[in-house]
Amino acid sequence: MKKKFLNLGKQPITNSFLKDIDTKTINKEYFYNLSVGFNNKNYLVSLMNHVDPKKQFTNQYAHRASQSKTMRESFKKTAKKLKERFKPNNCLEIGSNDGVFIKNFKKKQIIAVEPCTNLAKITQSEGYKTYGKFWNKKIASIIKKKHRKFDLIFSANTISHIPNLDEVFKSVSMVLKEEGVFVFEDPYIGSVIQNNSYDQFYDEHVHLFSLISISKIVSKAQLKVFDAEITKNHGGSICFYVCRKDSKSIETKRLKLLKKKEIKQGLHKLKTYQKFSNRVAESRKKLVQLLKDLKKKNKKIISYGATYKSATIFNYCNIGKELIDYVVDTTPNKQGKFTPGKHIPIISPEIGFDSSVDYAFLGAWNFKREIQAKEKNFINRGGKFIIHVPKVKII
Ligand code: TMP
Repeated sequence: MKKKFLNLGKQPITNSFLKDIDTKTINKEYFYNLSVGFNNKNYLVSLMNHVDPKKQFTNQYAHRASQSKTMRESFKKTAKKLKERFKPNNCLEIGSNDGVFIKNFKKKQIIAVEPCTNLAKITQSEGYKTYGKFWNKKIASIIKKKHRKFDLIFSANTISHIPNLDEVFKSVSMVLKEEGVFVFEDPYIGSVIQNNSYDQFYDEHVHLFSLISISKIVSKAQLKVFDAEITKNHGGSICFYVCRKDSKSIETKRLKLLKKKEIKQGLHKLKTYQKFSNRVAESRKKLVQLLKDLKKKNKKIISYGATYKSATIFNYCNIGKELIDYVVDTTPNKQGKFTPGKHIPIISPEIGFDSSVDYAFLGAWNFKREIQAKEKNFINRGGKFIIHVPKVKII
């Protein structure tokens, strides 16, 4: 049923930035084989083997969604849009990270579930009711007893992280009001195919969704997708609007158009993914060649953004300190550490992004505009960015 189409080799857990790179620590580093498959029954693209979520979503979780201005603004806009469209009295967020979405709501109006307890503590300390738990039937049942059902359930960059989708949607169904709406947004497989952004595959992205796949999967929990839109977030995401099967909500025009577009793109065919896999191998060759050519010319290359995505690239392309001197990142708890698998040092941009840098690989290519606007001095003095999507090039 699930056919493998892409093998990205031995990979570490992307969130496990190393404090030290002594032999003992390196020997203990966890690796798994990252390969991706296509299910020809429900059209879902997912990892062939997933990592135990307890190893990933720990009390040391590094990613802070509110680190980027782009994301803060995007969540603010989404919250406003959802309030205007659905006028919810009460809301639930699944996977609230550091509260970047719920902060746009009154404390009485929203509750959250977040398994990374270091993050849950942030929103708890700010007065938002947050359950430090994984989303499943057990927590849904506890929440139902205490808070009853919700008008709006929201989730961003979380549902695609959860291996058991049937349980996800059944749990949502347990706490969704009769005419309630479940809105969730995750990276879009259609954009991955279009942009050749194979770095969207990493341990946390257990699945990459299409409309045709999610429509089939939610149906098993007596739910239906009545609207969907493609967004620019994270280099191309899809936002689904889901309600009960017997809800009054009717399918929107843009939903019907998107379904047609996906069929035209071939998202229902294994062949589309096999062709993509060939383009990925080509991209690796080109990126490694470009970095090696620049190094031969004694250029200093760093990477901008210690992203999870760049862990996939560096490990798949076998790019280490011999090509990338270091990575700069604004996240305080990534600084002073080393990237997973390839052990490239991470430092703050204030220290590392100085006049000695000739080239910066955009590990955070999804924030290209924000970074280019911020780093005008670098560009003005002749510094250049390297990007690998949709093609490997210097920009
Ligand atoms: P993400 O793509 O997983 O959201 O991660 C983006 C990473 O890039 C995050 O660690 C923060 C970092 N970053 C910077 O260091 N500088 C920036 O200007 C931006 C936008 C992000």
